[in-house]
Amino acid sequence: MKSRLWALSVLSVIALACVGLAPARQAARKTHWVIGMSQCNLGEPWRVQMNADIKAAAAKHPELKVIYKDAQNKTPDQQAQVGELVDQGVDLIIISPKEAKPLTVPVRQAYKKGIPVIVLDRKVEGNDFTMFIGADNVKIGREAGKFLAKTLKGKGNIVELKGLMTSTPGQERHKGFLQGIKGSRLKIIFNADCKWLEPNAMAEMNSALARFDKINAVYAHNDPSAHGAYLAAKNEGRGREKKIKFVGIDALPHEGVRYVREGILAATFQYPTGGAEAIDWASKILRGQKKVPKTITLGTRIFTRSNVKRWGEAIK
Ligand code: FRU
Repeated sequence: MKSRLWALSVLSVIALACVGLAPARQAARKTHWVIGMSQCNLGEPWRVQMNADIKAAAAKHPELKVIYKDAQNKTPDQQAQVGELVDQGVDLIIISPKEAKPLTVPVRQAYKKGIPVIVLDRKVEGNDFTMFIGADNVKIGREAGKFLAKTLKGKGNIVELKGLMTSTPGQERHKGFLQGIKGSRLKIIFNADCKWLEPNAMAEMNSALARFDKINAVYAHNDPSAHGAYLAAKNEGRGREKKIKFVGIDALPHEGVRYVREGILAATFQYPTGGAEAIDWASKILRGQKKVPKTITLGTRIFTRSNVKRWGEAIK
């Protein structure tokens, strides 16, 4: 009898302990997460598209809430905003950094605190982040070079309107382009850092037009810059915009692809935002997936006058 009573009391202690433990264990297993998204600016259509892609993808994940920060193209603001997201206690950070070097430390600090960080489109230095998602900008630059070498039959004068050269896509698109024109007689006769902005590209192209009579093509690191260059040539009033081949990158349907369709650009290369992929991976990471690739490389497509009706062509 005594031992039975003892056994019963032991059992009830265990049962009580389990009841007591259950809520604690449930609380430990999170079911809802907050993602902080640090966007370097929302002044450019491509970035508006990236945030829209993130929003659309997150809408399919009721367990995720995304809070957005816009650094308005100011590096110190973006540095501070990453810190704010950490202080707010977000579960994961997605960042599309304005510049590589200055954002490296804030990203590292967040990552070292145990917050997973997905770096999107533009890179930071080193390896202190969870994963990078973006297209291969060296390859895109190389394809742009190959396209122009072919279109100009291996010879001609090029104006290169670069993206912000402290950001990795600017550096990589330039490097790739040099590889693409190697061995040809294409010459870069003028180049300028237009910081991704159309008004800068217009001003730089005005200088190029004033200095050089023979310009065969403009390689712009993004479509807004290619468009700015086109407008500069058109405004000059000598009809040069009809002879110069303008090439850009991004290929948003309502921007670059439209310019190709309208005959303004000779080509544009798709630069996917990676917004949907970032949410996809964020959800996997937050649910505890351990195997996470360090880099996800997104594909690209070329849109030219001859293939734009078929929605361009994938580049292998
Ligand atoms: C937008 C943008 C795009 C470009 C990308 C590179 O800010 O300039 O036009 O492809 O950034 O990071």
